[in-house]
Amino acid sequence: MAKLKSKYVCSECGCVSPKWMGKCPECNQWNTFIEEVDVKETGLASSSSLSILTPQKMNDISMEDEIRLSTGLNELDRVLGGGIVKGSLVLVGGDPGIGKSTLLLQLSYNVAGKDQKILYVSGEESIKQIKLRAQRMGAESENIYLLSENNMEHILTNIQNINPDLLVIDSIQTVYNPNIMSAPGSVSQVRDATGNLLRIAKGDGITVFIVGHVTKAGAIAGPRVLEHMVDTVLYFEGDSHMSYRILRAVKNRFGSTNELGIFEMTDQGLKEVINPSQMLLSGRMKGVSGSAVIASMEGTRPMLVEVQALLSYTSFGVPRRAATGADYNRVVMLMAVLEKRLGLQLQNYDAYVNVVGGIKLNEPSSDLGIIAAIASSYRDKEIDDGTVIIGEVGLAGEVRAVSHIEKRISEAYKLGFNKCIIPYNNYKNLKDDFKIKLYGVKNVEEALDIII
Ligand code: TYD
Ligand code: MG
Repeated sequence: MAKLKSKYVCSECGCVSPKWMGKCPECNQWNTFIEEVDVKETGLASSSSLSILTPQKMNDISMEDEIRLSTGLNELDRVLGGGIVKGSLVLVGGDPGIGKSTLLLQLSYNVAGKDQKILYVSGEESIKQIKLRAQRMGAESENIYLLSENNMEHILTNIQNINPDLLVIDSIQTVYNPNIMSAPGSVSQVRDATGNLLRIAKGDGITVFIVGHVTKAGAIAGPRVLEHMVDTVLYFEGDSHMSYRILRAVKNRFGSTNELGIFEMTDQGLKEVINPSQMLLSGRMKGVSGSAVIASMEGTRPMLVEVQALLSYTSFGVPRRAATGADYNRVVMLMAVLEKRLGLQLQNYDAYVNVVGGIKLNEPSSDLGIIAAIASSYRDKEIDDGTVIIGEVGLAGEVRAVSHIEKRISEAYKLGFNKCIIPYNNYKNLKDDFKIKLYGVKNVEEALDIII
């Protein structure tokens, strides 16, 4: 019998080494190498029936196939870049219990209603369990075929027999190729399975959605190794104890990665949140210092978000600073601007900045709002309820222009705000007439005079 060869594979990035190492030289993670015995890793990969393709002239390629199919969920369509592209491979990642299976079952149901055949393969739940869930959500359809199977060979046979338009694999960590020695969920298994699915997607034009669990423990290969292989990577996030879920694209070959989709988990499955600004502002306390509302752009959509700051007198030598949802270094910089340009004695205070609703602010237009929240908490004076604050702040304390100002102002108006603090450079170039009171400010001092 041939001697079994073993190799060590990093479970984070897939780096292969002949011997074990404590630290991965590729991704610098510690303790991620796992031993894998490979006997014949060629099993399914070489049995593919794909014929050799010849290159085609770009102008001759017909684009009819590029029509996108709506998922019936606007939030999901937007994150996908305008619907499902036929023959694409989409990875949906997220913590266990966040609602990935629910989302894909709803998607299957909606797509099934458009006369498409769906094969839903689950390696985690029995078909009875899936049916039960579908019943509860009102997502039963005769176009959906359910299969509870882990063996990749059997799955491939079934795909050939049924020839679906859409395939769901829930989850990639549970499927295995019997010709590969390592356990399901290991890097080789996950990579092999994804390779097969990629061939199905591109070769047969079947759209494939893959579920991938993300775990911090190194034992299961995270979907990180898959990210290179698929067209689109979506992350489903949120606190599983709270009902709101955020879907974001971290990679998308067919659209922007800036878009967010917001859902609410109800007892009948996931519901789209039509007006995220309203949802994000719903729990806002009135008349409390340290709270400011900003208008952030998430992709093409403006979103009103509450930023909170809390300053408390420090009892230690070095004051603490913490930021959730905002960039820590940015917050520290903005505090330095307040100290230097406005003379606030922030060195005596611990400062905590929090962005409500699990939103991560990643554009500088929120600077002025963060500054206002900090100054409001420092002076213990609340900011008027109806104010939205927009503007980037530079190190000299100047307020700089931001993009998409009209969209941000309109969103504020739509939600009943009556005052908008905006950069002067945006203000003087505004063409539309807004029914909301606008203040164009040149620097932080001017802004704070109006706000508090
Ligand atoms: P699930 O889709 O199974 O999560 P994942 O596939 O990401 O592991 O969702 C699990 C959670 O969602 C579970 O805690 C129950 C909750 N849930 C509802 O609240 N309402 C529903 O209608 C469904 C189907 C699930
Ligand atoms: Mg699941």
